[in-house]
Amino acid sequence: MDANFSIIYISALFLLLAPSIIAQHVVFDITKYGGAPNGDLTSSLERAWKAACESTSASKVFVPKNTYNLRQIELNGPCKAPIELHIEGNIVAPKDPNQFDANAQWVRFGYVDSFTLSGGATFDGQGLTAWKQNNCHKTWNCKKLSMNFGFNFMNNSIIRDITSKHSKHFHVNVLGCRNITFSKFSIEAPAESPNTDGIHILGDQHKSKYFTQTLEQEMIASH
Ligand SMILES: *[C@@H]1O[C@H](CO)[C@@H](O)[C@H](O)[C@H]1NC(C)=O
Ligand SMILES: *[C@@H]1O[C@H](CO)[C@@H](O)[C@H](O)[C@H]1NC(C)=O
Repeated sequence: MDANFSIIYISALFLLLAPSIIAQHVVFDITKYGGAPNGDLTSSLERAWKAACESTSASKVFVPKNTYNLRQIELNGPCKAPIELHIEGNIVAPKDPNQFDANAQWVRFGYVDSFTLSGGATFDGQGLTAWKQNNCHKTWNCKKLSMNFGFNFMNNSIIRDITSKHSKHFHVNVLGCRNITFSKFSIEAPAESPNTDGIHILGDQHKSKYFTQTLEQEMIASH
């Protein structure tokens, strides 16, 4: 290979690689924020999220493959750059319905632009015990149980490769979002579970022509 050719070759290679270097995320690993396997993920996730949200380049909060407990949590923006929450583990909710605010969601995201939730995680709402203590499927006059997920006022966001399991109530509430996509989103609930609808979408579509949702895949639901 003569010298000129190899210089051209190396520059071309650099140009090819450059976009992938630019596209890399700054990673915020929850183990660096005190998150430990089989432990309570809540405060380490809150702190990693806060740091990632402040990042001026695209960030990724990373939760490695393991099982974690998670109390009711609210992760809000606005963030300074696109943010991804990549969770590979099993996330387990408290069993006791009294550990949740009435009529709320277990994991709630709000006011973020360019958010991605990904990683193949299963969020287990531990509804099996809560359903037995609740009669909301028979009467309106009852204590509402928590839903697994709430997405409020999120723009340009993707929920990909996530399973919502045994939510205590409906699985997902989507409120006032613009351009939110659910892709490979699975819902698991036994047929005898009361009132575990899949995704509720609220928002005034007539007032906002930008309000769109895409459900790319058939919801997998047994109820
Ligand atoms: C979402 O888009 C709307 C309309 O453009 C805007 O008013 C709102 O501030 C955006 N929200 C975020 C979190 O960027
Ligand atoms: C919707 O959001 C996705 C993910 O951020 C983005 O790639 C796409 O361009 C957005 N679509 C519109 C019409 O803004």
